[in-house]
Amino acid sequence: MTAAITASLPIPLDPAAELPVGLDDPALDTPAMLVDLAVAEANIAAMAGYARRAGVALRPHAKTHKSVAMARRQVAAGAAGLCVATVTEAEVLAAAGLTDLTLAYPVVGERKLARLERICRDADVTLVADSAAVADGYQRAAGGAGRTLTVLVEVDTGMHRVGISPDRVTELAGTIARSPGLRFGGILTHAGQAHDAVDQPGIERVARAEAAIMGDVRAALERAGHEVAVVSAGSTLTARYLTAADGITEIRPGTYVYNDLRTLACWSCTADQIAVTMLATVVSADGSRVTVDAGSKTLTASQDPAYGSGYLLGRPDARFTRVSEEHGVLAVPDRPALAVGDRVRILPIHACVWSDLQAEVYGLADGQIIERIRVDALRHSL
Ligand SMILES: Cc1ncc(COP(=O)(O)O)c(C=O)c1O
Repeated sequence: MTAAITASLPIPLDPAAELPVGLDDPALDTPAMLVDLAVAEANIAAMAGYARRAGVALRPHAKTHKSVAMARRQVAAGAAGLCVATVTEAEVLAAAGLTDLTLAYPVVGERKLARLERICRDADVTLVADSAAVADGYQRAAGGAGRTLTVLVEVDTGMHRVGISPDRVTELAGTIARSPGLRFGGILTHAGQAHDAVDQPGIERVARAEAAIMGDVRAALERAGHEVAVVSAGSTLTARYLTAADGITEIRPGTYVYNDLRTLACWSCTADQIAVTMLATVVSADGSRVTVDAGSKTLTASQDPAYGSGYLLGRPDARFTRVSEEHGVLAVPDRPALAVGDRVRILPIHACVWSDLQAEVYGLADGQIIERIRVDALRHSL
């Protein structure tokens, strides 16, 4: 996104405000997304430590923060490179010098492929394909960029979103290997169905199946004479069950940097490992009915069976009863009562979709904002 466009976006913290700024400071408007920096940095360090112990490369998925500043922290902690979902995310990271990227999404359409071609001239972008049609587009981008592009075949290990069935991978790998301008680099999967597990052993079973299927696919590819340099798997929920001993070469967790109530509900973080909150203001209160200025356009439509639209930090008595676009309605029965003008902090159901709506988020240390964190690829499914 160009600087001119971001400059014209309204942001909650007065651009002239001098840091640090307290959460009750009038220079800070709401709703505002806050990142507890100590928690985020501990999450980054913990996953980097796990990857080192497991003997796998860490390639965090940047869709969670969409931010160069957060990506740099991940790389400084030992990430081998980054994963992205959109061409825009690839553009902003590459422009900032973060050039070891995997674009884990099929890039389809002339304009996106033209942008991809430009990125690939300077950055090392690994691509994924689950069809010859997608690989065909990459072949043209490789020709335009004047480079050989590495392509991974995406394997469907049970999510049934994208990817091909394991028994068809070898055929597509052959097609890619024979395509001028393309190099077959290995295989990639995302076992997002782990979110449907009903208990913690259920998450582990998804991870074990993910590793087993990828191992079988790798063996079949090697029997067919392909070198399989990359076996990429593992999300925030499943990565911690995968190791080099399973034949996995890299993990791509995204949400772990911030965590959220979905992750907590899937036994994959503790409450104090959730780094982000939405600061909101009470705009109406009638006894236990309290309404804040964060509704569905801020908290998003993400719902959790246990937590609804979110969770009010420090108020276990509170629960969301309804959200409309700009209103979040809560029942808060206990004392002390909340009053108009009070500020509250809401924990996210799904942190990644919050990030997509912010031009900047605010880094907190000791209860004060000490850093503006630009969300460089905001609002971009493009
Ligand atoms: C292809 C791919 N890789 C990795 C991830 C990271 O998953 P998580 O955010 O659960 O760690 C995602 C998430 O949607 C994804 O789509």
